[in-house]
Amino acid sequence: MRPRASSSMIKRREFLGAALAGMGGLLAGFGRGSNAQGMMGRRPPAGVALPEGEPLDFPDVLRNESTKPGQFSGTLVAAPTPATLIPGKSTAMWLYNGAAPGPLLELVEGQHVRIRFDNHLPLDTTVHWHGLPVPPDQDGNPMDPVRPGVTRIYEFDVPAGTAGTYWYHPHAHQTVAEQVAHGLAGPLIVRDEDDPLAHIPEATMLVSGLRLDSNAQISANNPTDWMLGRQGETLLVNGGRLPVHTVPPGTTQRWRILNTTSARYFRIALDAHTLTLVGTDGGLLAAPIAGLAEILLAPAQRVEVLVTVNATPNARYRLRALHYGSNLMSMGSNADEDLLTLATSTRRAASAFIPPSLRPITDLDFPSMRQRVELSENMGVGMMGGGLSRFLINGRSFDMNRVDLATVQGRVELWDIVNNTSMDHPFHIHGTQFQLASRQAAGVVTPAPYLAWLDTVNVPARQSATIKVRQTMPGKRMFHCHILEHEDAGMMGVLEVRPG
Ligand code: C2O
Ligand code: CU
Ligand code: CU
Repeated sequence: MRPRASSSMIKRREFLGAALAGMGGLLAGFGRGSNAQGMMGRRPPAGVALPEGEPLDFPDVLRNESTKPGQFSGTLVAAPTPATLIPGKSTAMWLYNGAAPGPLLELVEGQHVRIRFDNHLPLDTTVHWHGLPVPPDQDGNPMDPVRPGVTRIYEFDVPAGTAGTYWYHPHAHQTVAEQVAHGLAGPLIVRDEDDPLAHIPEATMLVSGLRLDSNAQISANNPTDWMLGRQGETLLVNGGRLPVHTVPPGTTQRWRILNTTSARYFRIALDAHTLTLVGTDGGLLAAPIAGLAEILLAPAQRVEVLVTVNATPNARYRLRALHYGSNLMSMGSNADEDLLTLATSTRRAASAFIPPSLRPITDLDFPSMRQRVELSENMGVGMMGGGLSRFLINGRSFDMNRVDLATVQGRVELWDIVNNTSMDHPFHIHGTQFQLASRQAAGVVTPAPYLAWLDTVNVPARQSATIKVRQTMPGKRMFHCHILEHEDAGMMGVLEVRPG
């Protein structure tokens, strides 16, 4: 059911020319036929039902057009694309290379990357490489819009030590929520030759949200969405509704799970299994954390987990997104929801050896400076900008021509992210991976239980989180709430990194 180009896209393909010849499989799913005879109608969005229960699909890998060693050259095209989500209906989506999710960018540490990006959308966009430390002028900041009809080249090196799971998405001024809701997001994996888990079969699972109206079109945000972020949509995994992932009983799997929804929090859990956490936003932990019944995934976060599948043949287990109350008003809550079915086949496979240590993580120690970031909401009336000025950072709404905080290249700082609102906010910083130092709730400080590289940290309502952060490249970086509606509404600031 993964949205694929329908006929008008086929025509478009002719004039896009040779550069797109490598969009391997763009049309592969066309004519696959929809398996609509599966169980229909579970939580249908506004009267329309998505086909369910098809085999878990995986995004195509973006073709490397370069043959030079150490070089990756690829082409991304963002374009309006009609897709058949509901049999017999055409949904107007905006997609990267005609697919939702967009193609997998599979990069290697040390590689030089050159992405040609064509904007065929009717509005400004950018491509932001979420979590990857790339130079500020290549990071798709809202200050660098790509106008409709324009092509730009993004070019950067993949730094050593960045092996991990990332994603790319638009970052245009005030239209990020709309663009992502229309399908613009894709996975990015950085690999490393010394991956200690390379022997374990892996699966990438990109979770996105979809809300269709009764005409099978992407719903516009309503006022509640602009307050809480889009809630109550249908969760898809790799573009499919409740897909089935079939593996041999007894096998060990490595799952990279990405939350690309605009605002959904969920606790990931797998029926009758525990999860072993091995990685976070910026890659592997120092050591696996086994025996977890659930893992909270905030908007924009990624985890890598190992699952040793029960040895029972022909069994079915649900991977679930359990309810998480992300606001003190108990509004817009999402019930427990299934993400996919893990099915075991007949023939048993051996489980894999899980190394007791994965890689060293150096503690970002000895911070030399402390900064405060206060998240607040302006619930007052006024409604300047039609309610778009409700969420603030340090008392101000985003202005791309203003510098809100400054730092010096290479300096380790403590940032206290203080949430003075009645809902959780997933706080994100561009250009680097940081470490959680501690959390504070009702005056009680809890140190972080383990070291991990993060680019997004959840800051629960009325609590605070202290992070250790260091920027390595000069220029302007964004920091913001990753509830996309809050970001669009101004809950974002500019950090200026000065040469050290
Ligand atoms: Cu995922 Cu500023 O972005
Ligand atoms: Cu980002
Ligand atoms: Cu927020």
